[in-house]
Amino acid sequence: MTTTSNQDLIGREGVNDLDAILAMTNTDIDSAVHAITDNAEAIFTWDYEKGARPGLNKLYEKAKTAQWNGETDLPWDTDVDLEQVAKLLLPSFGPDQMDVANTPLATWGDAEWLQLGMESQVWALSQFMHGEQGALLCTAKIVETVPWIDAKYYAATQVMDEARHVEVFAKYLDTKLEGYYPINTHLGMLLDDIVADARWDMTYLGMQIMVEGLALAAFGFMHMLTEEPLLKQLLRYVMADEARHVAFGVLSLKEYYAELTDNELAERQEFAFEAAVRMRDRFLQQEVWDRLGIDPKVAIPLTQASPIRSEFQKMLFTKIVPNCKKLGLLDANNAWLRRRFEELGVIQFEDWVDTEAEYEAFALAEIK
Ligand SMILES: [Fe+2]
Ligand SMILES: [Fe+2]
Repeated sequence: MTTTSNQDLIGREGVNDLDAILAMTNTDIDSAVHAITDNAEAIFTWDYEKGARPGLNKLYEKAKTAQWNGETDLPWDTDVDLEQVAKLLLPSFGPDQMDVANTPLATWGDAEWLQLGMESQVWALSQFMHGEQGALLCTAKIVETVPWIDAKYYAATQVMDEARHVEVFAKYLDTKLEGYYPINTHLGMLLDDIVADARWDMTYLGMQIMVEGLALAAFGFMHMLTEEPLLKQLLRYVMADEARHVAFGVLSLKEYYAELTDNELAERQEFAFEAAVRMRDRFLQQEVWDRLGIDPKVAIPLTQASPIRSEFQKMLFTKIVPNCKKLGLLDANNAWLRRRFEELGVIQFEDWVDTEAEYEAFALAEIK
């Protein structure tokens, strides 16, 4: 049974305590590097039987033929007009969606709202880029730590995928937009926790199931909303890879979690909950409000009250919840994680399609 307090799991008692969430900020934005101790053991295996795990072997073979080239397969000669991109977002995330009377936003005109849209886009892509680097490091770690040869092979292809993802997001931000935001502190804390954990399956759970499950949903959302052709294609290509990565997590952990005790599962449930809260907190985009000179404590409750935005935040969990269910994490230990997902308002996705079942639907027809 799990008895760990919210204080120990997420650093505060109240999951929705906005003051506590915003009290955490990234104060280390000037360093060129960030070091975190990776406590895991590197594992050799002497069992080289390829295909001992047919699902992983199939995924590996697919990954080998699904590689694309970030430099040559995307239309980098596209002119990107960030204002145009932002204008398209305003009907969903602009003044019509918030009750701004008697707030500092009441005096905003078109220029300020447009600026918000532009900053939000740069911020979102920046966090995607940082998350991709997290995936790059985590997957390199899985190559070292997972005991199965089929999983080491697959993870090696994912390392290449993630290098490409970091590369294309960085190139897009650098050449099509102007600069990027530092990593959000909540995302950074989560990535640090995943890298630091000694247990090999926790890397998968934190990265493949939680971070990448959320990324797959978030990329899908941005892919649907944007009409900017370069970004649309970039996201489509990245999503084809991400669906495979999440499937890799589900396939590997399904086997491993079937053998765990209730106490061991409880630790995984707690980690999944911590990750879910950290990722929800990161989407508050407090750094954008800071940059625009608006107190995030004033602005964020306004955005939270917007039906479209709160729906969007829930939709981010459409992949995570069914995948956690497939792994047996929802209902172990008297449905502990189910109750936490109920509190977060996302349990309704539990029977949506899981990613082990749907990854092939994301494959790119033109890359065979
Ligand atoms: Fe990625
Ligand atoms: Fe990925």
